Amino acid sequence: MTWNRKHLLDIQSLQPEDIQLVLDTAEAFKEFGERKIRKANILLGKTVVNLFIEPSTRTRISFELAAQRLSADTINFSTETSSFRKGETLKDTARNLEALHADILIVRHRSAGAPHFLSRVLSSSVINAGDGAHEHPTQALLDLFTMREKLGRIQGLQVTILGDILFSRVARSLIWALNKMGARVTLCGPPTLVPRQLEALGCRVTHDLPEAIAQADVVNLLRIQHERQQRKMFPNLGEYSKLFGLTIDRLNQMKPAALIMHPGPMNRGVEIDTEAAESERSVILDQVTNGLAVRMAVLYLVSGGVVPLQ
Ligand code: CP
Repeated sequence: MTWNRKHLLDIQSLQPEDIQLVLDTAEAFKEFGERKIRKANILLGKTVVNLFIEPSTRTRISFELAAQRLSADTINFSTETSSFRKGETLKDTARNLEALHADILIVRHRSAGAPHFLSRVLSSSVINAGDGAHEHPTQALLDLFTMREKLGRIQGLQVTILGDILFSRVARSLIWALNKMGARVTLCGPPTLVPRQLEALGCRVTHDLPEAIAQADVVNLLRIQHERQQRKMFPNLGEYSKLFGLTIDRLNQMKPAALIMHPGPMNRGVEIDTEAAESERSVILDQVTNGLAVRMAVLYLVSGGVVPLQ
C-alpha cells in the first residue's frame, strides 16, 4: 500500500486503503511513543505551521507535539497577535507563511472549505484540522484507531453517534470513515439536530436514546455546538440532558463491553454526566493519547514518508 496524497483535506475522498494505511502507520508511531527517547529526525529541517483561526486545545497541541516529536520546526499562528486583526486575508496570510518556507500548514477555520481553498493556492501540504461544520478528518482517524485498539476491529461494529450531528464536522468525518470501513452507524438526538435527511449519508436515524444505545459497541457523544447554531434548536439544556444526556444509569443499560467516546471539549452535565465520563467504559483520554500517534502518522505520510515505517 502506498500513500500518494500531498494533503489531508477530508475523509470523504479517501479510500478504505488510505484509512487503513494511516491507522497502521499510527500504530507504529504509538509504539515509538512508548520508547525511552520519543524523538525521531523524520521531519528535521521541515517547518510545520498551526494556522488555527478558531479555538482548539486537543487538535492544536497534539499537532504541535506530533511535529516536535518528528523534529520539525513548529510555529503556532495566533489570530489575536497577527495581522489578521488588521484585515489581512486568509490567502495572503497563508502565502506569507509559505514564503517563510512552511512545508505543512495545519488549518482550522470556521468556514467549510477553507483548507481545500488553501490547498489550491499553495504549494505546501495542507491538513484540515476542522473546517466549519464540514469535516475534521484527524478526529475521525483517531476515533477509528481507538475503536480498533480497544475492540480489535472496525468492520461490523455498531456505532451510535449521539448529540448535535447537524452542526458537527466530527460526526460528518466519522460517518464517512465508519461507512468506508464497514461499521454500522446510528445517529441519535433531537429531530432538530438529527433530521431524517442524514439517512442519506448511509446511517440509521432514531430519536429514541434507550434504543440507540442498547446494542451499540461504541457510543460517541457530541457536544451542542452553540457557536454554529443560528437559532434555538431545543427548549433548554436541562431538557436536552434529560432526554439525550448519557447518565450512569443509561450507561448501565449498554452492552457490558461498549465504549464511551467523546472528541471533547465535554460539557459535563449536558451530553454526559461526570460519572459516565469517568467510568471504566470511557476511553475519552485514550482518544487524546491516540491523537498524537495518528497526527504523527499523517504528518509523516503527507511529507512523503515510506510505508511501512522502518
Ligand atoms: N476534538 C477537538 O477538535 O478538540 P479541540 O477543539 O480542543 O481541538
